[in-house]
Amino acid sequence: MAGSATKDDTDRTTLIIGAGSTLAGALIRQLAAEADGGRIVAISRRPAPTPGAAVHWITCDYSEQHIASTCAKLMTYQGSVQRVYLFNGQLHNTDLLPEKRLEDLSERCLQSILHSNTIVPALWLARLPTLLRGPRHCVVTLLSARVGSINDNQLGGWYSYRMSKAALNMLVKTAAIEYQRRAENVSLMAYHPGTVDTPLSKPFQSRVPEDKLFSPQRAATYLTQCCDGIKPGQSGLYRDWRGEDIAW
Ligand SMILES: NC(=O)c1ccc[n+]([C@@H]2O[C@H](COP(=O)([O-])OP(=O)(O)OC[C@H]3O[C@@H](n4cnc5c(N)ncnc54)[C@H](OP(=O)(O)O)[C@@H]3O)[C@@H](O)[C@H]2O)c1
Repeated sequence: MAGSATKDDTDRTTLIIGAGSTLAGALIRQLAAEADGGRIVAISRRPAPTPGAAVHWITCDYSEQHIASTCAKLMTYQGSVQRVYLFNGQLHNTDLLPEKRLEDLSERCLQSILHSNTIVPALWLARLPTLLRGPRHCVVTLLSARVGSINDNQLGGWYSYRMSKAALNMLVKTAAIEYQRRAENVSLMAYHPGTVDTPLSKPFQSRVPEDKLFSPQRAATYLTQCCDGIKPGQSGLYRDWRGEDIAW
């Protein structure tokens, strides 16, 4: 039955995809420091930052083929995975800034931002049911953003980022329906971490009140608390760092 205990509850794996993210780094450090943090498997385009026995680091270029072969390797952890985090996402990079007005839209920017925020997570979600299905409750969290909420959009701008996160949210809602049939033990959640002090938010922090700019460590704590609050059977969620639902 979904959510019931497995034979060996001490054999627990956390899968962290997009592990080069600053927020992911804080989560990895936090889990690695916990005595019962379980096994950590980290996946990234980048090489492991510092070799550590606590983390099994796998590099992946996020091509469809490489995602498929990585998922095949991950099958050794089948039955033990209880948390999956997908951190992939970009707001800007060395070439691209978030659009302020329609004239700023470009095919290149749209393709690049949609690729990292939506397409890469979608390719992972498509491959994960076989690995994740089983008796153990597993929470899969995709890093979204409140600006992906269509209801909440009062300010406009940031077209490609908003579009990519709104599409990610729809991915979560739609995949949750299929996972109910194919891996009913899995809870899917789109998650807004608040504004976190990382390179992604750096250029846009000036108007953020000090108490609303979270350190990556604090954001990692909120993230794990929110995941711990999800019960078996709950899925297709869109929640923030307080654990509160966000209007889609
Ligand atoms: N920081 C905030 O205030 C904030 C607020 C709301 C939502 N978020 C979301 O939280 C997540 C993590 O953000 P962060 O602040 O930790 O950002 P970050 O440090 O800039 O991390 C960037 C993430 O995006 C991935 N990435 C970058 N370029 C990519 C590409 N071309 N293709 C695929 N993946 C790519 C990286 O994966 P690799 O490990 O492979 O490099 C990494 O996981 C993002 O999805 C972001 O939208 C952040």
